[in-house]
Amino acid sequence: MEKKLLNILSGNDPFLRKEMALVVAEELKNTRLQELIENMFFTMEKNKGVGLAASQVGVDAALFIVEVDMQRYIFINPQIKHYSKDKVEMEEGCLSFPGIFKPVTRSKKITIAYLDEKGQKQRLKAKGLLARVIQHEFDHLRGVLFIDKESV
Ligand code: CO
Repeated sequence: MEKKLLNILSGNDPFLRKEMALVVAEELKNTRLQELIENMFFTMEKNKGVGLAASQVGVDAALFIVEVDMQRYIFINPQIKHYSKDKVEMEEGCLSFPGIFKPVTRSKKITIAYLDEKGQKQRLKAKGLLARVIQHEFDHLRGVLFIDKESV
């Protein structure tokens, strides 16, 4: 399959404010979804990002991808089950806001439940950069952007 560079919506696009629809089981068997995920990784890597949500490429689907420490993650229909009370501030960027960086306070650790690309239920505990990127991308699925977030 030839990989395609997807158009990333810029920060003021109203689509980024929408809540994304859950991916249904049938779509998981669809090669279109697998193609979307492949193209999202391709697009994210070309743009030197560490995370990308489907909303950012104009697709109404509750899914995002992450690549941290050379490890690829795919989160479909994710739910963050636990946010640690322990928080940390760090500068964040977003592929929809090129050149804009802002300190954001987020939980140090999270637990996320989700489906993988095969539709299997998964659960992951994350800390450090991975936890941060997951929280940023998860927000995208609910129309929340990092520019909205507070730092303390
Ligand atoms: Co973003």
